[in-house]
Amino acid sequence: MKGAPRSKEFDDVYFSAENGFAETQHVFIRGNGLPEAWAGRDFTIFETGFGTGLNFLCAWRLWNETNAGRKLYFISVEKFPLSRAEIESALEMWRGNFEGEFAALLENYPGNLSGTHRIAMGENCMLTLIFEDVNVAMPELNEAIDCWFLDGFRPASNPEMWSETVFQNMARMSKKGATFATFTAAGFVKRGLATAGFDVKKIQGYGRKRDMLVGAKL
Ligand SMILES: C[S@@+](CC[C@H](N)C(=O)[O-])C[C@H]1O[C@@H](n2cnc3c(N)ncnc32)[C@H](O)[C@@H]1O
Repeated sequence: MKGAPRSKEFDDVYFSAENGFAETQHVFIRGNGLPEAWAGRDFTIFETGFGTGLNFLCAWRLWNETNAGRKLYFISVEKFPLSRAEIESALEMWRGNFEGEFAALLENYPGNLSGTHRIAMGENCMLTLIFEDVNVAMPELNEAIDCWFLDGFRPASNPEMWSETVFQNMARMSKKGATFATFTAAGFVKRGLATAGFDVKKIQGYGRKRDMLVGAKL
């Protein structure tokens, strides 16, 4: 796999073919008001779809630049884990955008061993990887979440990732004011999140995507 990797099963890309790194900054980082939202406190991010780990690496790098003395908890659910070699090849072009984070992920990534992996990434970051279907994993969890990265292939080709189960469990685990961001602006995602109690806004998407959704738990 070279360049922007593609899933045959879902007929979609893991990140933008134009520039996945810039897409992550626009959609998930700025879409969630980071780094301001985490200033001076410990913080828990929940991601649907770990994929290559690009979103995780961008969040942890920014954490190291802006809030290194506090602790970042990053929880990500992934049903079809990539191998270490696939991750390395997919992210090779952005190696220079990270410092020790890229090597630390490759060194500690559990391959595709099923189950839950709690991985201490240095002193200030705990990565929890849950290799399971999101609809099975979420109802079992009782975390208090500050921020959601919703990144599960486009809803039209993967509706399971954008289910009532996901939206209701997001509402259950959200701290008051918890934010979310996602690259999609699909109507049923917007309505599902609003019904679950989120204030949902459409804003400008990244690259060729006209719109995306952001919001917060009321
Ligand atoms: C767009 S990619 C995520 C990209 C990733 N955030 C990154 O930084 O590279 C979507 C991911 O969702 C995963 N996925 C799809 N359906 C799923 C499900 N039902 N439960 C959990 N993960 C799922 C896919 O395997 C894929 O890795």
